[in-house]
Amino acid sequence: MSAPSTAPETNCNIDQSTLGAFWMPFTANKAFKRSPRILAKAKGMHYWTEDGHKVLDGTAGLWCVNAGHCNERIVSAIQKQAAALDFAPTFNMGHPLAFEYAHRLCQELMPGKGLDQVFFTMCGSTAVDTALKVALAYHKARGDGSRFRLIGRERAYHGVGFGGISVGGMLPNRRAFGPMLPGVDHLRTTYDREHQAFSKGQPEWGAHLAEDLERLVGLHDASTIAAVIVEPVSGSAGVLVPPYGYLKRLREICDAHGILLIFDEVITAFGRLGKGMGAEYFGVVPDMVTCAKGLTNAAVPAGATFVQKHVYDTFMGATPGDGIELFHGYTYSGHPLAMAAGLATLDVYQDEGLFERAAALAPYWEETLHALKGHPHVVDIRNLGLMGAVELAPRAGKPGQRAFQVFTTALHKGVMVRVTGETIALSPPLIVEKGQIDQIVTTLSQALHEVA
Ligand SMILES: Cc1ncc(COP(=O)(O)O)c(C=O)c1O
Repeated sequence: MSAPSTAPETNCNIDQSTLGAFWMPFTANKAFKRSPRILAKAKGMHYWTEDGHKVLDGTAGLWCVNAGHCNERIVSAIQKQAAALDFAPTFNMGHPLAFEYAHRLCQELMPGKGLDQVFFTMCGSTAVDTALKVALAYHKARGDGSRFRLIGRERAYHGVGFGGISVGGMLPNRRAFGPMLPGVDHLRTTYDREHQAFSKGQPEWGAHLAEDLERLVGLHDASTIAAVIVEPVSGSAGVLVPPYGYLKRLREICDAHGILLIFDEVITAFGRLGKGMGAEYFGVVPDMVTCAKGLTNAAVPAGATFVQKHVYDTFMGATPGDGIELFHGYTYSGHPLAMAAGLATLDVYQDEGLFERAAALAPYWEETLHALKGHPHVVDIRNLGLMGAVELAPRAGKPGQRAFQVFTTALHKGVMVRVTGETIALSPPLIVEKGQIDQIVTTLSQALHEVA
């Protein structure tokens, strides 16, 4: 499982004059292109930059390469599939791997809890859009079309589609894009530093924040509310861990009012919390689960929306004769390369026991990370499973600048972390070794001391 000590052969030799055309996502383009950071190769726990610098991956790419980079079984499955069946439509046609993978996911990821149907999408954003559309159409299909309202939460990230940014709660992702979806409201965030700072794992304080859903029911009436969507652990907003009891209470309130509960598990599924789904970790069964990233170990873009059988059955029952039950889908739903990658990924997770490995490492991760308490600028540390966050005090008048400098300093020292606002977010591949956890934290410690 450990990475080779020498860089795999690299053929990347980027021509600086070609840097202009790619409008990079969620990136300060002008600054990046003045001083680019280019990754050329990867294997196991490591990247290599274009100039051969070895970098420990503290973020599994973007929370997604859970089985480590360029896993040979996944690589080989994709290569074989590309040569055998490059593409097949799944509109009115099919191919075996899409059915096999859907079947296995439903049987193996969180079995016995009714999440028996899966709709394949292209990414997390499209999985979220799918779930929101299914929620609206579900109520209409069962004759309750007045339920048009969708409830998200402050400080949530649900991707970048109009559905996702509407229910999402991160200001920079919303403010430039006009009125968005109508009929959306938001729960309060679960994060309160005053009561939760330096909690190890789930904070004790804050279960009562779920009652905020009752406030929205009181404001809008349950008869107008279709669904609530939350990340079990908010990732991109800085690893905000739900207080003990919060998610269970949200489930109870949804049940009391006939509201669907959607868990956006684009980050938390596939072992990040030591289980197939965060839902299993928290012991709460949602009506739908969105995922992506770890679904294919990110080797081929793909997403999926899991749906409870009763939701699917409602569509089947409500559609007369042999009509199409849901007018929704993507050209790449169930793409053969994604299905091949996904099946191989599932095998790797199981054969290498990676979810169990993550669960076993979580206490060490927690202890090691919390050793950064008391370091310069650190105002909070959060963790759950193999997710972690170190939040820094902002520099006066320069939001995010200090955390960004910690990111670049750590990168120069050979560790890639992620920065979101004032927070350093961490999510290593599940194959991480204890010594590599030490390396991540030691490097962060040095960077925190160096950055003013
Ligand atoms: C919780 C959550 N939902 C949705 C998304 C969007 O996924 P994608 O970037 O694949 O569209 C992300 C991405 O990080 C995410 O963390």
